[in-house]
Amino acid sequence: MNKTLTFTKAQQHFMVIGNPIAHSKSPEIHQVFAKQSGLDISYQRQYCPDNAESFYAVITAFFNGGGVGANVTVPFKQLAYDYCQTQGSLSEHAKVAGAVNTLLLKDEALYGDNTDGQGLVNHIESLGWPLNGARVAIIGAGGAARGVVLPLIQAGISTLTIANRTVSKAQVLVTELSAANSTINSHKLKSCATEELTGAFDLIINATSIGLSGNTLPLADDLSSHYVYDLMYGRALPFLQHFAQRGAQTSDGYGMLIAQAALSFERWTGQAVDVKSATVSLKAGAT
Ligand code: ATR
Repeated sequence: MNKTLTFTKAQQHFMVIGNPIAHSKSPEIHQVFAKQSGLDISYQRQYCPDNAESFYAVITAFFNGGGVGANVTVPFKQLAYDYCQTQGSLSEHAKVAGAVNTLLLKDEALYGDNTDGQGLVNHIESLGWPLNGARVAIIGAGGAARGVVLPLIQAGISTLTIANRTVSKAQVLVTELSAANSTINSHKLKSCATEELTGAFDLIINATSIGLSGNTLPLADDLSSHYVYDLMYGRALPFLQHFAQRGAQTSDGYGMLIAQAALSFERWTGQAVDVKSATVSLKAGAT
């Protein structure tokens, strides 16, 4: 009669949806967080055909099947944003980014957040690079650039110049961001063509998709910065090498990847992540 009954916590289900998706590191990253927190999770890579109907069908099946949270990656971030805007709700960061990378259910409707920009800020701060009062330049005016602007401004940067190959896109982005959020408006963003970006900055961020393509950006000779960040990660990035040779401290975006994942995990589970120790585990696992 005094038999001891053992109860285990139910496994929680997560996924990352994208196309392509096989390369995604999110499952291994979230398993490290789950181990830290003592949670039993499944985290799947979910391939989805590149059309809205398939995306809605997969998302509906996932959450109706008891899924707790989903990450959204290329090419579905804007679609997830559009859906949450009309049928659910959005965080302020997702609203300004115009893109969603984190989905969960709130009041039986989809809630979309965007943790990319705050992930960048958290990683930069963990490197000890000062953001308060910093003169910052972002090169690139696509979705990646748009997603990092509000968190950088909230971190206290003093000026922000957005430079782009197609200068009209940088101008439109500045106008749209200024209209979207009063905190951004008060900072008077500037825009220019990439080759017109000149002089000294505290931080330059490469938010173009040029990455490992072999192409190089037309950078002015006198463009310099104490700190230089590339949102891409992987092999040695020519953009970072250019500035490292001129004495800058540099970082690729692997730390941002872990930091944005940690913020998603915290939103979903309410458990705080020790990003530093997770990074050590992930780097050890990669060797
Ligand atoms: P993402 O979502 O990754 O930001 P995107 O919206 O397609 O992708 O934006 C890509 C960015 O990289 C743009 O700023 C693009 O410049 P243009 O607006 O002029 O197209 C930039 N980019 C991509 N390839 C580039 C190259 N070879 N040289 C310079 N800029 C490049």
